Amino acid sequence: MSENATSTPTLKVKTIEWRDSDLTLLLIDQIKLPHHFENVECRNFHEAGEAIRTMIVRGAPAIGVTAAYAMALAALEYRNLPRDEFIEKLDEAGAWLNETRPTAVNLKWAIDQSLSLAHRLHDAYIQVVSIPWELLRLAKQIQADDLAFCKAIGAFGGELIKDGDNILTHCNAGGLATAGYGTAVGVITAAHEAGKKIHVWVDETRPYLQGARLTAWEMQQLGIPHTLITDNMSGHLMQRGKVQFIVTGADRIAANGDTANKIGTYMVAVLAKENNIPFYIAAPLTTIDLKIKSGEEIPIEERSADEVVFIGGKRIAPEGVHAAHFGFDVTPARYIHGIITEKGIARPPYEQSIPALFEK
Ligand code: MRU
Repeated sequence: MSENATSTPTLKVKTIEWRDSDLTLLLIDQIKLPHHFENVECRNFHEAGEAIRTMIVRGAPAIGVTAAYAMALAALEYRNLPRDEFIEKLDEAGAWLNETRPTAVNLKWAIDQSLSLAHRLHDAYIQVVSIPWELLRLAKQIQADDLAFCKAIGAFGGELIKDGDNILTHCNAGGLATAGYGTAVGVITAAHEAGKKIHVWVDETRPYLQGARLTAWEMQQLGIPHTLITDNMSGHLMQRGKVQFIVTGADRIAANGDTANKIGTYMVAVLAKENNIPFYIAAPLTTIDLKIKSGEEIPIEERSADEVVFIGGKRIAPEGVHAAHFGFDVTPARYIHGIITEKGIARPPYEQSIPALFEK
């Protein structure tokens, strides 16, 4: 571990950074934020995979970028093996990585991109020792693309926000969850950068507290006025007319627009409809899984119940209590006003508008 170069962090620091000099992947340790600002160094694909599993790096696009670098690290590790053994080992590494977190489709997407490139090169009898460098180039491209997608999402979504709006967001879909700028936070940032006077309600997002620990930290770095609330306060605020716009990120969007995002998003969306407040999803096309017809098919991660029973290492429930930790829920498409992507905003009926985005 090493201290990040900047002592007063701003979101100009990179969540994910590749160091060419010693072929090392640097990740901001998101478990330690906001108290400590440190990098974790991953020198092989196991370390990168464990960083995804343990949520040192989290957020669907950031997980995808990390997975692409992890595949390049695996290829570097196996580059002296005979051709067929090399590709078999790479397939195994991909299968192992894919198991680290099940819900965010960006993970599978990035692994598939890497494996299909490696297989193409292998089938074309390209020397095995040169394949890792091609995978590294791909990982860098995926990272650069994600940043560009977030900026475009911000530009489309920022237009929807009016001067004076109070915006609610859930979980963290900011620079920390992406290659930079963020999706939902990117939309909020674009409105702020356009000079609109906005205020953000930040859901704390139990149990992992991505809102309290990460989004509130990002809002401070960005200088965007905000107020942290516990998750059970948002209904009250909506009912009293204190929320005009809601935007969250996504982990996997089905072909019909049903969207998996952090646990608690569904409740927010239902309350938004009850109170006539527009509820938007912001996500790149890499988060859309056209192979999945509806949200029922989206795998929902279940994590250790200890993450519910302990907060900051302190037990908050009796010894021996049964607890459960569902990481995500699915918001049915009928609650979603629009899906803001880098290609524009998809509107209902999503069965038509989502495929149209892929053709742009
Ligand atoms: O469990 P996490 O922290 O990885 O969950 C993150 C979310 O649910 C985000 O909203 C989503 O990945 C979008 S990030 C741009």
